[in-house]
Amino acid sequence: MRSEQSPQLVRPPVPDTAAATAVAHPNIALVKYWGKRDEQLFLPRTDSLSMTLDIFPTTTRVRLAPRADKDTVTFNGRAATGEALRRIVAFLELVRERAGRAHRAVVDTANTVPTGAGLASSASGFAALAVAAAAAYGLGDDATALSRLARRGSGSASRSLFGGFALWHAGSSTGTAAQADLSSYAEPVPAARLDPALVVAVLDAGPKAVSSRAAMRRTVDTSPLYEPWARSSGDDLRDMVAALRRGDLDAVGEVAERNALGMHATMLAARPAVRYMAPASLTVLDSVLQLRRDGIGAWATMDAGPNVKVLCRRADAGKVAAAVRGAAPGCSVHIAGPGPGARLLAGDGR
Ligand code: PMV
Repeated sequence: MRSEQSPQLVRPPVPDTAAATAVAHPNIALVKYWGKRDEQLFLPRTDSLSMTLDIFPTTTRVRLAPRADKDTVTFNGRAATGEALRRIVAFLELVRERAGRAHRAVVDTANTVPTGAGLASSASGFAALAVAAAAAYGLGDDATALSRLARRGSGSASRSLFGGFALWHAGSSTGTAAQADLSSYAEPVPAARLDPALVVAVLDAGPKAVSSRAAMRRTVDTSPLYEPWARSSGDDLRDMVAALRRGDLDAVGEVAERNALGMHATMLAARPAVRYMAPASLTVLDSVLQLRRDGIGAWATMDAGPNVKVLCRRADAGKVAAAVRGAAPGCSVHIAGPGPGARLLAGDGR
């Protein structure tokens, strides 16, 4: 764990017209984050671990607007409203507080992934926003500090700062709020000799009925299965890190599938139940079982939506994609590999 003295996000002043553009990719958790212990600071109950994808990037430009009296946010070319706008403005407030600057901003964000469908759009979205806003407001570029900052927009965004595999530390539960905040960030996890692919089956690209934030709150508050899952998730994380280190994709897949199905079990036991699985999701889960019976290493994971992601060897990705298409005709299937961490793009007069 890093010391509490890690670099603060403060730099010399930047011009009033500063602008920065960043790109970030979504990540899919192989050991899930499900449940917060502090809603305001976005501190999770458990550690989690993910793979950043090389598809579906989000590109976000932040420009300071010295004469504006409010933030303007454009989302895929349309003015953002409602909850999406509220979350982005709240995030900018945090950046302004840290930068000691009052300037409002013009934010222009383009998502290539369906938003709010359990395809990690909030991870790529807030990772790109954190990197672009930190640069525009003159905060530093320390990756750990940016991971903590991104966490405050969406927990899973803390992991999209990093390419490949990333572990998000739940952090310390003792000490002050500031100490707890400092202790919760993601960092890259080394993986040996792995050539994984994630086959993403988009069964429904529409926004989910229950937000992950509301669903995890209800699960933590009411599900009798939550505490046992949270405890076993610690074992899953340990087994996952070891499997990645030794390059054992079969073990990575087994742990990922059991962790994800366990997370969905906690939600099904919530009162009232939260069910993201759709009939087509189960059909795809069946096709994954059949692939394994046929000797192909394939393991499923699912997030806060009906879509299924199938982990496999890159060499098998074509066969896995064909099996998934066969199981759910009409769904769109995308093959992803491990992708890069969030980064600033050149330009914008920096
Ligand atoms: O960070 P959020 O609020 O989008 O929550 C992500 C929750 C899951 O995708 C279900 C799990 C995870 O670890 O990404």
